[in-house]
Amino acid sequence: SPKTKNIAQKLKEALPKELFSLIKKIGETAENLGINAYIIGGFVRDLIIGRKNFDLDVVVEGDATEFAKKIAKLFNAKVHTFDRFKTATVVFPDGNRIDFASARTEVYRSPGALPEVDMAPLKKDLMRRDFTINTLAVKINSKDFGKLIDFFGGLKDIKDRKIRVLHSLSFVEDPTRILRALRFATRYRFELGSHTEKLLKMAVQRKLFKTVEGQRIYHELKQIMLEDNPLRVLNKLEQYKVLSSLFDNLNWNRWEKDLFERLRKVVIWHKLNFPESSINYHLPFFGALFLKEDYEDVNRYLSFLSVPEKEKKEILDMCRLIIPTIKRIEKAKKNSEIYSLLKSKSEEFILLLAAYPESEETREKILKYLKEWKDVKPLVSGKDLINRFKLKPGPIFKEILNKLKYAIIDEKIPEDNKEKQLSYVEKLLDENRKMD
Ligand code: CTP
Repeated sequence: SPKTKNIAQKLKEALPKELFSLIKKIGETAENLGINAYIIGGFVRDLIIGRKNFDLDVVVEGDATEFAKKIAKLFNAKVHTFDRFKTATVVFPDGNRIDFASARTEVYRSPGALPEVDMAPLKKDLMRRDFTINTLAVKINSKDFGKLIDFFGGLKDIKDRKIRVLHSLSFVEDPTRILRALRFATRYRFELGSHTEKLLKMAVQRKLFKTVEGQRIYHELKQIMLEDNPLRVLNKLEQYKVLSSLFDNLNWNRWEKDLFERLRKVVIWHKLNFPESSINYHLPFFGALFLKEDYEDVNRYLSFLSVPEKEKKEILDMCRLIIPTIKRIEKAKKNSEIYSLLKSKSEEFILLLAAYPESEETREKILKYLKEWKDVKPLVSGKDLINRFKLKPGPIFKEILNKLKYAIIDEKIPEDNKEKQLSYVEKLLDENRKMD
């Protein structure tokens, strides 16, 4: 029988108040319905390790969609059900969301798969998972609230700082776990267990990636690019010959590594200055990975990964345009020249562009575009052009207001002084009349 321990107090300390009371009520509901409910997986792992994580996955020994519907009704929440997988997401009025799944009982049917034995649905469900550190569960039924369930030694492996698979065929059944193992090892500064390391090396050697759908590999690579330090994970991938097995011609040298490090700093800067931004931070990292590669190779890599068309185009555009754009920025004499070079570019592109130069001066200018120039809005409006200058609306409006905007960006006119902006417009119109 599994070792048990109660971590209700830890749960209370780690979760925001309203999320904690939500969990308690879900546990009461489960108890009343006579169903066992557990929080499982990454959340529990991070709770023990002490890493912030509010992604709650609840597994019930029963019908999760029915259970989620009841919970949604009780809390006046929205529920999205995925009947094919017997899973559901409940979105609560306060914005919290919780995923529900039914403990799955089917097991792998590959040769050498684990034996079918009579065991609790929860245990069978957890047995299918990647690493022991991801197999912890906390029961939330009010009767046993906070009981930690550890069937596979996950707690000890967290204490020993080890990534271990549950069985020898884990990487064969799902080679994307190779990427996950190295991502988790880097994130937590854990080591691979020695047996797990051997299995991983063998799986890489056997080129098992070739048997996986490209989009699943892309999904895991994307998770890597979204880590705090993708560079460290990619170095690990290189160390285990994973990079070269995925991308046969790839260069991963000093230059690429330095670019990754500069990009990491630019991204930190961006998140600090634009905390509400919802841009795709993984894209500039993919751009950085492929920037110096042959265009044909990049095309081939992105097709192999089945990268969605829009993202593929974005990455290819980065590869084509970063260097020419940098050259033009370095030659620019006025701020407004940089503005007009960048105004049609995506923010993802601009982040990689900012990371590219070794010169801090060039980088500053690009970041200034994001922080200041991009949002310059003249105080003079179309209404002013009609009322003060008796102009008829037409293409000239856009022309005048753009010239004014460029003058502000070039710091010829202050952004916050309407009088000075109006006299600038007056001057523009005078010059125009003289030309006619
Ligand atoms: N899982 C697995 N094999 C995979 C992917 C996922 O066994 N190839 C399992 C893992 O046990 C994991 C759970 O599914 O705990 C949820 O996966 P995911 O949300 O990707 O991972 P998290 O553990 O939540 O990791 P992260 O902190 O990166 O979100």
